[in-house]
Amino acid sequence: MSTSQENAPLTAAEVAKNRVTASAPAGQVKLFEPITLRGLTVKNRIWLSPMCQYTAAEGVVNDFHLAHYTARALGGFGLLIAEATGISPQGRITPGCAGIWTDEQTEAWARVVTAVHNAGAKFAIQLQHSGRKGSAAVPWAPKTNVSVTDAEGGWQTVGPTTEAFPGLAAPHALSTAEVEAIPAAFARAAERADRAGFDAVEIHGAHGYLVHQFLSPLSNTRTDKYGGSAKNRARLVNEIAEAIRAVFPAVKPVFIRVSASDWLLGGLTPEVVAHVVAGLKARGVDFCDTSSGALLPAPIKAGPGYQVPFARVIKTDAHIAVGAVGEITEADQAAEIVENGDADVVLLGRAALRDPMWPLRAAHDLGVKVAWPVQYERGAFN
Ligand SMILES: Cc1cc2nc3c(=O)[nH]c(=O)nc-3n(C[C@H](O)[C@H](O)[C@H](O)COP(=O)(O)O)c2cc1C
Repeated sequence: MSTSQENAPLTAAEVAKNRVTASAPAGQVKLFEPITLRGLTVKNRIWLSPMCQYTAAEGVVNDFHLAHYTARALGGFGLLIAEATGISPQGRITPGCAGIWTDEQTEAWARVVTAVHNAGAKFAIQLQHSGRKGSAAVPWAPKTNVSVTDAEGGWQTVGPTTEAFPGLAAPHALSTAEVEAIPAAFARAAERADRAGFDAVEIHGAHGYLVHQFLSPLSNTRTDKYGGSAKNRARLVNEIAEAIRAVFPAVKPVFIRVSASDWLLGGLTPEVVAHVVAGLKARGVDFCDTSSGALLPAPIKAGPGYQVPFARVIKTDAHIAVGAVGEITEADQAAEIVENGDADVVLLGRAALRDPMWPLRAAHDLGVKVAWPVQYERGAFN
Protein backbone atom coordinates (compact mmCIF):
# COMPACT_ATOMS: atom_id res chain seq x y z
CA MET A 1 0.00 0.00 0.00
CA SER A 2 1.45 3.33 -0.96
CA THR A 3 1.08 6.38 1.21
CA SER A 4 0.26 9.84 -0.11
CA GLN A 5 3.82 10.81 0.86
CA GLU A 6 5.24 8.20 -1.50
CA ASN A 7 3.09 9.54 -4.34
CA ALA A 8 4.17 13.14 -3.75
CA PRO A 9 6.40 14.59 -6.47
CA LEU A 10 10.09 14.68 -5.64
CA THR A 11 11.48 17.93 -4.35
CA ALA A 12 14.26 19.58 -6.35
CA ALA A 13 16.74 18.42 -3.69
CA GLU A 14 15.58 14.81 -4.03
CA VAL A 15 15.85 14.97 -7.82
CA ALA A 16 19.34 16.44 -7.55
CA LYS A 17 20.37 13.80 -5.01
CA ASN A 18 19.35 11.06 -7.42
CA ARG A 19 21.08 12.58 -10.41
CA VAL A 20 24.31 14.23 -9.25
CA THR A 21 26.84 11.47 -9.70
CA ALA A 22 29.90 13.06 -11.33
CA SER A 23 31.58 9.67 -11.54
CA ALA A 24 32.51 8.01 -14.79
CA PRO A 25 32.00 4.43 -15.93
CA ALA A 26 34.91 2.29 -14.70
CA GLY A 27 37.87 2.06 -17.05
CA GLN A 28 37.66 5.64 -18.28
CA VAL A 29 39.75 8.13 -16.32
CA LYS A 30 40.80 6.94 -12.88
CA LEU A 31 40.34 10.46 -11.45
CA PHE A 32 36.61 9.93 -11.96
CA GLU A 33 36.44 6.38 -10.68
CA PRO A 34 34.96 5.72 -7.23
CA ILE A 35 37.14 4.95 -4.21
CA THR A 36 36.05 3.00 -1.14
CA LEU A 37 37.44 3.43 2.37
CA ARG A 38 35.75 1.13 4.91
CA GLY A 39 32.00 1.52 4.33
CA LEU A 40 32.32 4.82 2.49
CA THR A 41 32.35 4.93 -1.30
CA VAL A 42 33.19 8.30 -2.84
CA LYS A 43 32.14 8.82 -6.46
CA ASN A 44 35.44 10.33 -7.66
CA ARG A 45 38.97 11.26 -6.54
CA ILE A 46 38.66 15.05 -6.62
CA TRP A 47 38.19 16.24 -3.05
CA LEU A 48 37.90 19.64 -1.45
CA SER A 49 40.86 20.42 0.80
CA PRO A 50 39.96 21.69 4.28
CA MET A 51 39.94 25.48 4.30
CA CYS A 52 39.08 27.74 7.25
CA GLN A 53 36.45 30.32 6.40
CA TYR A 54 36.88 32.27 9.68
CA THR A 55 33.18 33.16 9.53
CA ALA A 56 31.60 31.29 12.45
CA ALA A 57 30.23 33.04 15.54
CA GLU A 58 31.13 31.29 18.82
CA GLY A 59 32.13 28.32 16.63
CA VAL A 60 28.62 28.02 15.09
CA VAL A 61 28.54 27.69 11.30
CA ASN A 62 25.86 29.58 9.37
CA ASP A 63 24.32 30.29 5.96
CA PHE A 64 27.69 31.28 4.52
CA HIS A 65 29.04 27.79 5.24
CA LEU A 66 25.87 26.22 3.84
CA ALA A 67 26.30 28.10 0.56
CA HIS A 68 30.08 27.59 0.42
CA TYR A 69 30.05 23.82 0.88
CA THR A 70 26.86 23.16 -1.11
CA ALA A 71 28.25 25.06 -4.12
CA ARG A 72 31.30 22.80 -4.20
CA ALA A 73 29.19 19.68 -3.74
CA LEU A 74 27.05 20.75 -6.71
CA GLY A 75 30.28 21.45 -8.61
CA GLY A 76 31.15 17.75 -8.51
CA PHE A 77 33.70 17.33 -5.70
CA GLY A 78 33.35 13.71 -4.57
CA LEU A 79 34.14 14.49 -0.96
CA LEU A 80 34.54 17.75 0.90
CA ILE A 81 36.67 18.09 4.02
CA ALA A 82 35.19 20.79 6.21
CA GLU A 83 37.56 23.39 7.57
CA ALA A 84 39.69 22.98 10.71
CA THR A 85 37.02 22.83 13.43
CA GLY A 86 37.91 23.32 17.08
CA ILE A 87 37.38 20.36 19.41
CA SER A 88 37.31 22.96 22.21
CA PRO A 89 37.30 26.78 22.41
CA GLN A 90 41.11 26.72 22.74
CA GLY A 91 41.34 24.34 19.77
CA ARG A 92 40.24 26.99 17.28
CA ILE A 93 42.82 29.03 15.36
CA THR A 94 40.93 32.33 15.38
CA PRO A 95 37.79 33.59 17.13
CA GLY A 96 36.01 33.16 13.75
CA CYS A 97 36.83 29.47 13.40
CA ALA A 98 34.18 26.76 13.48
CA GLY A 99 33.74 24.50 16.49
CA ILE A 100 32.22 21.17 17.38
CA TRP A 101 32.16 21.10 21.18
CA THR A 102 28.51 22.18 21.81
CA ASP A 103 25.06 20.90 20.76
CA GLU A 104 24.33 24.17 18.97
CA GLN A 105 27.50 23.81 16.85
CA THR A 106 26.68 20.16 16.12
CA GLU A 107 23.14 21.00 14.97
CA ALA A 108 24.41 23.85 12.79
CA TRP A 109 26.85 21.45 11.12
CA ALA A 110 24.06 18.85 10.65
CA ARG A 111 22.14 21.32 8.48
CA VAL A 112 25.21 21.82 6.25
CA VAL A 113 25.82 18.07 6.09
CA THR A 114 22.26 17.44 4.85
CA ALA A 115 22.64 20.07 2.13
CA VAL A 116 25.99 18.65 0.98
CA HIS A 117 24.60 15.10 0.88
CA ASN A 118 21.56 16.28 -1.11
CA ALA A 119 23.95 17.91 -3.57
CA GLY A 120 25.65 14.55 -4.17
CA ALA A 121 28.94 14.72 -2.22
CA LYS A 122 30.31 12.98 0.85
CA PHE A 123 31.43 15.13 3.75
CA ALA A 124 34.31 14.77 6.25
CA ILE A 125 35.28 17.22 8.98
CA GLN A 126 38.77 18.20 10.09
CA LEU A 127 39.09 18.04 13.88
CA GLN A 128 41.45 20.64 15.16
CA HIS A 129 43.50 21.67 18.17
CA SER A 130 45.56 24.71 17.26
CA GLY A 131 47.87 24.62 20.33
CA ARG A 132 50.35 27.47 20.33
CA LYS A 133 49.05 28.80 16.98
CA GLY A 134 45.59 29.57 18.38
CA SER A 135 44.08 32.89 19.46
CA ALA A 136 45.32 34.40 16.18
CA ALA A 137 43.81 37.21 14.11
CA VAL A 138 41.67 36.33 11.07
CA PRO A 139 43.56 36.74 7.75
CA TRP A 140 41.72 39.92 6.75
CA ALA A 141 42.44 41.70 10.08
CA PRO A 142 44.51 44.88 9.76
CA LYS A 143 47.47 43.01 11.30
CA THR A 144 47.98 39.28 10.79
CA ASN A 145 50.18 36.69 12.51
CA VAL A 146 49.47 38.43 15.80
CA SER A 147 47.65 37.17 18.89
CA VAL A 148 44.25 38.64 19.65
CA THR A 149 43.48 39.82 23.17
CA ASP A 150 40.83 38.40 25.51
CA ALA A 151 38.69 41.48 24.76
CA GLU A 152 38.86 40.61 21.05
CA GLY A 153 37.74 37.04 21.73
CA GLY A 154 41.21 35.56 22.24
CA TRP A 155 42.45 33.05 24.82
CA GLN A 156 45.55 31.70 26.57
CA THR A 157 47.06 29.23 24.13
CA VAL A 158 48.69 25.91 25.06
CA GLY A 159 51.63 23.96 23.65
CA PRO A 160 54.20 21.27 24.35
CA THR A 161 56.43 23.95 25.92
CA THR A 162 56.26 27.71 26.54
CA GLU A 163 58.10 28.30 23.24
CA ALA A 164 55.98 30.63 21.08
CA PHE A 165 55.33 30.50 17.33
CA PRO A 166 57.14 33.60 15.99
CA GLY A 167 54.79 36.60 16.22
CA LEU A 168 52.29 34.97 18.58
CA ALA A 169 51.98 35.02 22.38
CA ALA A 170 53.76 32.39 24.48
CA PRO A 171 51.62 29.31 25.21
CA HIS A 172 51.03 27.64 28.56
CA ALA A 173 53.10 24.42 28.63
CA LEU A 174 50.63 21.57 29.01
CA SER A 175 51.17 19.35 32.05
CA THR A 176 51.27 15.58 31.47
CA ALA A 177 47.75 15.29 32.89
CA GLU A 178 46.52 18.04 30.57
CA VAL A 179 47.96 16.23 27.53
CA GLU A 180 46.36 12.99 28.70
CA ALA A 181 42.93 14.70 28.55
CA ILE A 182 43.24 15.79 24.89
CA PRO A 183 42.45 12.46 23.16
CA ALA A 184 39.09 12.29 24.97
CA ALA A 185 38.23 15.77 23.67
CA PHE A 186 38.98 14.61 20.09
CA ALA A 187 36.80 11.54 20.70
CA ARG A 188 33.88 13.68 21.94
CA ALA A 189 34.20 15.83 18.82
CA ALA A 190 34.24 12.70 16.62
CA GLU A 191 31.05 11.48 18.33
CA ARG A 192 29.43 14.83 17.60
CA ALA A 193 30.66 14.69 13.98
CA ASP A 194 29.03 11.28 13.62
CA ARG A 195 25.81 12.63 15.13
CA ALA A 196 25.88 15.57 12.69
CA GLY A 197 25.98 13.03 9.84
CA PHE A 198 29.60 13.44 8.67
CA ASP A 199 30.92 10.47 6.70
CA ALA A 200 34.48 10.68 8.08
CA VAL A 201 36.70 12.68 10.43
CA GLU A 202 40.19 13.98 9.77
CA ILE A 203 42.68 14.53 12.58
CA HIS A 204 44.59 17.76 11.84
CA GLY A 205 48.15 16.60 12.36
CA ALA A 206 49.77 19.18 10.05
CA HIS A 207 50.68 22.86 9.61
CA GLY A 208 52.25 23.45 13.00
CA TYR A 209 49.11 22.93 15.09
CA LEU A 210 49.07 20.97 18.35
CA VAL A 211 49.48 17.42 17.01
CA HIS A 212 52.32 18.54 14.73
CA GLN A 213 53.86 20.55 17.59
CA PHE A 214 54.11 17.28 19.54
CA LEU A 215 55.39 15.25 16.55
CA SER A 216 58.28 17.48 15.56
CA PRO A 217 61.55 17.47 17.50
CA LEU A 218 61.88 21.17 16.63
CA SER A 219 58.86 22.13 18.78
CA ASN A 220 58.64 19.24 21.25
CA THR A 221 61.48 19.33 23.78
CA ARG A 222 59.43 17.83 26.60
CA THR A 223 61.02 15.34 28.96
CA ASP A 224 57.89 13.39 29.98
CA LYS A 225 56.29 10.42 28.17
CA TYR A 226 55.07 12.80 25.39
CA GLY A 227 58.56 14.08 24.47
CA GLY A 228 62.05 12.94 23.62
CA SER A 229 62.08 9.82 21.42
CA ALA A 230 60.12 9.58 18.15
CA LYS A 231 57.88 7.03 19.91
CA ASN A 232 57.10 9.46 22.71
CA ARG A 233 56.45 12.35 20.31
CA ALA A 234 53.94 10.17 18.41
CA ARG A 235 52.18 9.13 21.64
CA LEU A 236 49.64 11.98 21.54
CA VAL A 237 48.51 11.37 17.95
CA ASN A 238 48.40 7.62 18.58
CA GLU A 239 46.20 8.13 21.63
CA ILE A 240 43.96 10.50 19.65
CA ALA A 241 43.49 7.89 16.90
CA GLU A 242 42.73 5.18 19.47
CA ALA A 243 40.25 7.40 21.33
CA ILE A 244 38.44 8.32 18.12
CA ARG A 245 38.33 4.73 16.89
CA ALA A 246 36.85 3.61 20.23
CA VAL A 247 33.75 5.76 19.64
CA PHE A 248 33.54 6.40 15.87
CA PRO A 249 31.50 3.90 13.79
CA ALA A 250 33.63 1.12 12.29
CA VAL A 251 32.03 1.71 8.86
CA LYS A 252 33.26 5.33 8.75
CA PRO A 253 36.88 6.10 7.84
CA VAL A 254 39.30 8.21 9.87
CA PHE A 255 41.79 10.42 8.02
CA ILE A 256 45.01 12.06 9.19
CA ARG A 257 46.47 15.22 7.66
CA VAL A 258 50.24 15.37 8.10
CA SER A 259 53.02 17.76 7.32
CA ALA A 260 55.37 15.28 5.68
CA SER A 261 58.29 17.69 5.98
CA ASP A 262 59.17 20.63 8.20
CA TRP A 263 61.46 21.90 5.40
CA LEU A 264 64.06 22.51 8.11
CA LEU A 265 67.25 20.79 9.15
CA GLY A 266 66.55 18.52 12.12
CA GLY A 267 62.81 18.58 11.45
CA LEU A 268 60.35 15.94 10.24
CA THR A 269 61.04 14.17 6.94
CA PRO A 270 58.66 12.13 4.75
CA GLU A 271 60.32 8.86 5.81
CA VAL A 272 59.94 9.64 9.52
CA VAL A 273 56.33 10.78 9.03
CA ALA A 274 55.55 7.62 7.02
CA HIS A 275 56.60 5.60 10.07
CA VAL A 276 54.14 7.58 12.24
CA VAL A 277 51.40 7.07 9.65
CA ALA A 278 52.05 3.30 9.58
CA GLY A 279 51.49 3.32 13.35
CA LEU A 280 48.25 5.23 12.86
CA LYS A 281 47.10 2.77 10.21
CA ALA A 282 47.55 -0.01 12.76
CA ARG A 283 45.26 2.00 15.04
CA GLY A 284 42.45 2.25 12.47
CA VAL A 285 43.35 5.31 10.42
CA ASP A 286 42.42 4.75 6.77
CA PHE A 287 43.72 7.66 4.72
CA CYS A 288 46.65 10.10 4.82
CA ASP A 289 46.07 13.61 3.48
CA THR A 290 49.65 14.62 2.75
CA SER A 291 50.64 18.25 3.17
CA SER A 292 53.83 19.86 4.53
CA GLY A 293 55.34 22.73 6.46
CA ALA A 294 54.06 25.55 8.71
CA LEU A 295 55.63 24.37 11.95
CA LEU A 296 57.99 27.33 11.75
CA PRO A 297 58.85 29.78 8.98
CA ALA A 298 60.92 27.77 6.45
CA PRO A 299 62.29 27.96 2.89
CA ILE A 300 59.58 25.94 1.13
CA LYS A 301 60.16 25.09 -2.53
CA ALA A 302 56.58 25.39 -3.77
CA GLY A 303 55.44 24.86 -7.35
CA PRO A 304 52.91 22.79 -9.28
CA GLY A 305 52.30 19.50 -7.45
CA TYR A 306 55.25 20.12 -5.12
CA GLN A 307 53.91 17.87 -2.34
CA VAL A 308 53.02 14.93 -4.61
CA PRO A 309 56.39 13.17 -3.99
CA PHE A 310 55.65 13.26 -0.24
CA ALA A 311 52.32 11.51 -0.83
CA ARG A 312 54.14 8.84 -2.84
CA VAL A 313 56.61 8.18 0.01
CA ILE A 314 53.80 7.82 2.56
CA LYS A 315 51.83 5.52 0.24
CA THR A 316 54.84 3.31 -0.44
CA ASP A 317 56.23 3.16 3.09
CA ALA A 318 53.00 3.12 5.15
CA HIS A 319 50.85 1.12 2.68
CA ILE A 320 47.89 3.41 3.14
CA ALA A 321 45.58 5.31 0.78
CA VAL A 322 46.88 8.85 0.32
CA GLY A 323 45.80 12.23 -0.96
CA ALA A 324 48.07 14.75 -2.68
CA VAL A 325 47.52 18.49 -2.24
CA GLY A 326 49.26 21.72 -3.16
CA GLU A 327 49.20 23.65 -6.41
CA ILE A 328 47.12 21.08 -8.24
CA THR A 329 45.17 23.27 -10.62
CA GLU A 330 44.86 21.58 -14.03
CA ALA A 331 42.65 18.66 -15.04
CA ASP A 332 45.40 16.73 -16.85
CA GLN A 333 47.80 17.30 -13.94
CA ALA A 334 45.25 15.88 -11.46
CA ALA A 335 44.45 12.95 -13.76
CA GLU A 336 48.14 12.08 -14.14
CA ILE A 337 48.81 12.08 -10.37
CA VAL A 338 46.05 9.53 -9.83
CA GLU A 339 46.78 7.56 -13.01
CA ASN A 340 50.49 7.21 -12.07
CA GLY A 341 49.54 5.97 -8.62
CA ASP A 342 51.42 8.79 -6.89
CA ALA A 343 48.23 9.36 -4.90
CA ASP A 344 44.78 7.80 -4.66
CA VAL A 345 43.00 11.16 -4.65
CA VAL A 346 43.83 14.81 -5.20
CA LEU A 347 42.69 17.61 -2.92
CA LEU A 348 42.13 21.11 -4.20
CA GLY A 349 42.36 24.25 -2.11
CA ARG A 350 42.61 27.64 -3.76
CA ALA A 351 41.56 26.39 -7.20
CA ALA A 352 38.28 25.35 -5.56
CA LEU A 353 37.82 28.77 -4.04
CA ARG A 354 37.97 30.41 -7.44
CA ASP A 355 36.05 27.69 -9.27
CA PRO A 356 33.47 25.68 -7.30
CA MET A 357 32.66 23.80 -10.53
CA TRP A 358 36.27 22.62 -11.01
CA PRO A 359 35.42 18.86 -11.16
CA LEU A 360 32.66 19.33 -13.75
CA ARG A 361 35.00 21.50 -15.82
CA ALA A 362 37.77 18.86 -15.46
CA ALA A 363 35.40 16.12 -16.62
CA HIS A 364 34.68 18.15 -19.74
CA ASP A 365 38.39 18.88 -20.35
CA LEU A 366 39.23 15.17 -20.01
CA GLY A 367 36.32 14.04 -22.15
CA VAL A 368 34.62 12.22 -19.28
CA LYS A 369 30.83 12.15 -19.27
CA VAL A 370 29.37 12.89 -15.84
CA ALA A 371 25.88 13.89 -14.78
CA TRP A 372 25.27 17.50 -13.90
CA PRO A 373 22.86 18.72 -11.25
CA VAL A 374 19.53 18.69 -13.08
CA GLN A 375 18.98 22.35 -12.32
CA TYR A 376 22.21 23.24 -14.15
CA GLU A 377 22.05 20.83 -17.09
CA ARG A 378 21.27 23.55 -19.62
CA GLY A 379 24.52 25.28 -18.62
CA ALA A 380 26.71 22.18 -19.00
CA PHE A 381 29.94 22.51 -20.98
CA ASN A 382 29.53 21.04 -24.44
C1 LIG B 1 41.83 30.12 2.86
C2 LIG B 1 42.58 28.88 3.23
C3 LIG B 1 42.27 28.23 4.42
C4 LIG B 1 42.93 27.05 4.78
N1 LIG B 1 42.55 26.38 5.91
C5 LIG B 1 43.05 25.13 6.15
C6 LIG B 1 42.48 24.31 7.17
O1 LIG B 1 41.49 24.66 7.81
N2 LIG B 1 43.06 23.10 7.38
C7 LIG B 1 44.11 22.65 6.63
O2 LIG B 1 44.60 21.55 6.88
N3 LIG B 1 44.62 23.39 5.63
C8 LIG B 1 44.09 24.60 5.36
N4 LIG B 1 44.54 25.30 4.28
C9 LIG B 1 45.50 24.67 3.35
C10 LIG B 1 44.75 23.99 2.18
O3 LIG B 1 43.91 22.95 2.64
C11 LIG B 1 45.73 23.42 1.15
O4 LIG B 1 46.46 22.38 1.75
C12 LIG B 1 46.69 24.48 0.61
O5 LIG B 1 45.99 25.66 0.25
C13 LIG B 1 47.47 23.97 -0.60
O6 LIG B 1 46.59 23.57 -1.64
P1 LIG B 1 46.26 24.54 -2.90
O7 LIG B 1 47.56 24.87 -3.56
O8 LIG B 1 45.35 23.69 -3.76
O9 LIG B 1 45.55 25.76 -2.37
C14 LIG B 1 43.93 26.52 3.93
C15 LIG B 1 44.26 27.21 2.75
C16 LIG B 1 43.58 28.35 2.38
C17 LIG B 1 43.91 29.02 1.08
